[in-house]
Amino acid sequence: MLHIRNLTYHPTATPTAILKSVNLDLAPQHLGLIIGPSGSGKSTFLEILSGLAQPTSGAVFWREQKLISEQLQQLAGLVFQFPERHFCGGTILEELRLGHPELGTERVKQALTEVGLEHLSLSNSPHALSGGQQRRLALAVQLIRQPNLLLLDEPTAGLDWSMRQQLVSLLAKLKKNWTLLVVTHDAGDMLAIADNCWTIKQGELESVDPKSLLRETKQSLSAA
Ligand SMILES: Nc1ncnc2c1ncn2[C@@H]1O[C@H](COP(=O)(O)OP(=O)(O)O)[C@@H](O)[C@H]1O
Ligand SMILES: [Mg+2]
Repeated sequence: MLHIRNLTYHPTATPTAILKSVNLDLAPQHLGLIIGPSGSGKSTFLEILSGLAQPTSGAVFWREQKLISEQLQQLAGLVFQFPERHFCGGTILEELRLGHPELGTERVKQALTEVGLEHLSLSNSPHALSGGQQRRLALAVQLIRQPNLLLLDEPTAGLDWSMRQQLVSLLAKLKKNWTLLVVTHDAGDMLAIADNCWTIKQGELESVDPKSLLRETKQSLSAA
């Protein structure tokens, strides 16, 4: 179980805090969804949860234990927005083994199978894959480390409708084995598979019921 308590992030250079006393609980094998407009603090929040930035105050707990940034780096796997832009392996195998060359072919194949890419040749270039396949590979790059918490920043951004649907069904499948926290500016895609949902505005998180938000979205669509 993930608990976040009164987490605030206020770099000295900014006039107001970017994250304001954020509280959040997420159970294992749940998918949490945070929805907010551009600039609301979503990516900053994930950077803190993945140990890349340190909060000004407040704490993150995993299994009742308070974690420091180094421990968060172990616990969490962050898939950046547009992860394919950061690919640097010459082949799929290299990409998956970056930073942990000791991993055997079994683990590599297992990670690819989790994301439905088991049919690809390990010697293919990551850049030769389709947009949807690249997103799946980026997920596998994190899953191969077997993180306890998988963090996804705008996972469907820039994908066309059918690739978005495929990614959403993949995330629905992954939450059977993993705990996922997704941030997005586009509520529509992932509401149906979210177990917990929050909105974020100017660094303030507010819990909402995903079912009621889903009904609202459908109503506004049919009214349009
Ligand atoms: N290290 C930083 N120093 C100053 N301002 C920052 C820093 N990181 C992010 N910001 C600002 O914090 C706000 C939230 O940014 P971000 O987390 O990227 O939002 P989102 O991902 O929701 O679009 C923005 O106004 C951004 O300009
Ligand atoms: Mg962002």
